[in-house]
Amino acid sequence: MDVALEGKEPLDVDADCTVFGVLERTEKDALIPPHLKAADSATGGFLSAAWERKEIKGKKAEVLLFPLPGGRRRIALVGLSKPADLSIETVRRAIGYLTRHLKGKGIRSLCVDLPSFTAGKLPPEDCARAIADGHALASYEFTRYKSERTEPEKRRLVISLSKEHVRVKDRVGAAVSREGKLLDTVLWTRDLANLPADTATPEFLANQAAQLGKDVKLKVTIFDEKKLKEMGCGGILAVGGGSIHPPRMAILEYTGAGGRNAKTIAVVGKGITFDSGGISIKPSAGMSEMKFDKSGAVAVLGILRAAAELKLKVNVIGVMALAENLPGGSSYRPGDIVKTFSGKTIEVLNTDAEGRVVLSDALSYVATKYSPDQIVDLATLTGACVVALGNDIAGLLSTDDHLAAGLLASSEATGEHLWRLPLTQTHKDMVRGEVGDVRNSTEMPMAGTLTAGAFLSEFVAGKPWAHLDIAGTAWVAKAPQYSPSYTPSGATAFGVRLLIHYLESLG
Ligand code: BES
Ligand code: ZN
Ligand code: ZN
Repeated sequence: MDVALEGKEPLDVDADCTVFGVLERTEKDALIPPHLKAADSATGGFLSAAWERKEIKGKKAEVLLFPLPGGRRRIALVGLSKPADLSIETVRRAIGYLTRHLKGKGIRSLCVDLPSFTAGKLPPEDCARAIADGHALASYEFTRYKSERTEPEKRRLVISLSKEHVRVKDRVGAAVSREGKLLDTVLWTRDLANLPADTATPEFLANQAAQLGKDVKLKVTIFDEKKLKEMGCGGILAVGGGSIHPPRMAILEYTGAGGRNAKTIAVVGKGITFDSGGISIKPSAGMSEMKFDKSGAVAVLGILRAAAELKLKVNVIGVMALAENLPGGSSYRPGDIVKTFSGKTIEVLNTDAEGRVVLSDALSYVATKYSPDQIVDLATLTGACVVALGNDIAGLLSTDDHLAAGLLASSEATGEHLWRLPLTQTHKDMVRGEVGDVRNSTEMPMAGTLTAGAFLSEFVAGKPWAHLDIAGTAWVAKAPQYSPSYTPSGATAFGVRLLIHYLESLG
């Protein structure tokens, strides 16, 4: 995705729509803000008239379009927030609302006035990146299965720096070109995560990993069911046992440009291509959404692709734990005891708590074979997390305060929100097994996200580790009321922008 920069004033740039940000006005603001004067004259005074009528409020989610004489060009005013609330995320969301609003209006090019969005407060390069994010993420549509294929509207994005920011053109240029590459990967990740389970089988996703390895030069290793058996990965094998599509584990290795002293970070993803619940079958209402239960593993693919394309300095090991959870004659059952790669046994009380079972193998494999400096996993792990935090915040559980702080800082910067939840001895005690070492369910509707995290912590071999429960944030059922304006319904690719920001922050 390309984002062009212009040093000129916004109205001097030829575009179908010229966009200005407007901060929320107060009673005292009787006159139109100075940065809208030129646009006001271009419209022949329409803006100042609308200002006087108090039609322009500058509130969040407000988008107003004004035609320019001649009819082709338009001015868009986008509400931001109160000045004190202005943030990078405000900008991302404001551009998200704008992008939604422009759908179907035949606008092929946009010129966004950067200074009206930075408002003397936000760093221009971060603000320009947020504009690119809001526009690309909100424009996304998953059209692959529409037989009458209407291509999603393609719109060119230009950011005009005006006099105010022209001095930092190089810095802003580098920032948006990096962001453009990252956004291409985020949208590619969404496309993969949106695929239904008949197409995106464990084998298909493993093949995607292999192909990515060729495309961006990563070392990729795929373990099939035979190899998984030899390795003793009883967790992944048990969960995938009921499906005709056998399980896989894929390892992707990126060696960073940071040299000998560079840190190695493992990112591990839950890749359940469909979660019916297995023998402990789920109710049928909403079950189709469980095709998104692979979102963690697909995010790992996106993270590895972006790490390679952006030539990050750190080393990254990606692990995808891939299986389909179906009921059948060869399914694992409640009461089974499975032996995992670590040697620990899991007492299965509920076959629907399968994510932690596949992750047990993936986490202990990467922890012991690679001895990474840190491990982060992404998993659509618990319905309890959706109840607790909703669709806009993922749960963060960590054994390491430093790692948690780094992830929270990246969460703030990217708008991919995290909220830290506790990991305690009480919750570890709750998942202690009766006949096996641990049990995969407490069979009590209590602290489900915390007991799931406590379970996973048994398999990280004491490494600094963080778990992101993305059950609520990986996809959006009904945009936009419960989710940011820039995430249309379907897969969000949550975690890719967050983790790339985090990995970049390590040097
Ligand atoms: N994939 C689900 C979690 C989920 C539920 C994600 C709803 C998104 C929306 C997971 O495998 C699961 O079923 N978890 C169970 C665990 C329980 C049986 C201990 C849950 O959360 O109910
Ligand atoms: Zn489940
Ligand atoms: Zn699941």
